[in-house]
Amino acid sequence: MNTPKILKITGLEKTYSSGNKQLTVLQNISFDVDRGQTFSIVGPSGSGKTTLLGLCAGLDEPSAGQIELCGQDLSTLNEDQRAQLRNKEVGFIFQNFQLLPTLTALENVSVPLELQGAKDAEKRSMVLLEKVGLADRSHHYPSQLSGGEQQRVALARAFANQPSILFADEPTGNLDEDTGEKVIKLLFDLNKEAGTTLIIISHDLELANRTQQILRLKGGQILTNQRTSVLQS
Ligand SMILES: Nc1ncnc2c1ncn2[C@@H]1O[C@H](COP(=O)(O)OP(=O)(O)O)[C@@H](O)[C@H]1O
Ligand SMILES: [Mg+2]
Repeated sequence: MNTPKILKITGLEKTYSSGNKQLTVLQNISFDVDRGQTFSIVGPSGSGKTTLLGLCAGLDEPSAGQIELCGQDLSTLNEDQRAQLRNKEVGFIFQNFQLLPTLTALENVSVPLELQGAKDAEKRSMVLLEKVGLADRSHHYPSQLSGGEQQRVALARAFANQPSILFADEPTGNLDEDTGEKVIKLLFDLNKEAGTTLIIISHDLELANRTQQILRLKGGQILTNQRTSVLQS
């Protein structure tokens, strides 16, 4: 149902095995995220952030523990059902943009919408490209765009299906400081307008301080889970 918690994680553990070796990369992870909240997961490289994101979004399965996303216990869904839930409810932004190189900016935004059967996909996509300031670049391919521009296309794509939760994994990791700041401002602005739950994954505590709650990870375990002074809007 329309629970105020959009994400509930309980006793999560992830262990990788290679040969006879076991590597536990996440242990004893429990937290939840309110619908509409801005939330960050912070920790040094290798602390398990991306692994945790993959589990939260149902891209990967935990070794133990429970994940409830948008009111659904992910362990009760098969891979297809998890993909359907993602298509409907989840948006992603990646460090390396992950645009399709053979599609134009406009197509990168509109094709996922068309695949979901949206009739006004192209119109909606143009509106989003306008919002990220790239209307005049809509027919350009990713290779013709700067890193910052590519990430702005990725932002447009992420918001296009009006997700209820958006995961951004190191969204400024491949951008210089000024460009990164512009992308983050755009991300927060679009997010505020859409009322999406935003989860930012970063090693940058300053960026994390701009979200309402910070979960700090170290060595695959939770160090702290604290509210910040950012106003709830
Ligand atoms: N598929 C995998 N197989 C084995 N080990 C993995 C795999 N994915 C990640 N790891 C390990 O898990 C740990 C956490 O990785 P990751 O979640 O990518 O951390 P972060 O995103 O915080 O940098 C690292 O030690 C990494 O080497
Ligand atoms: Mg990572």
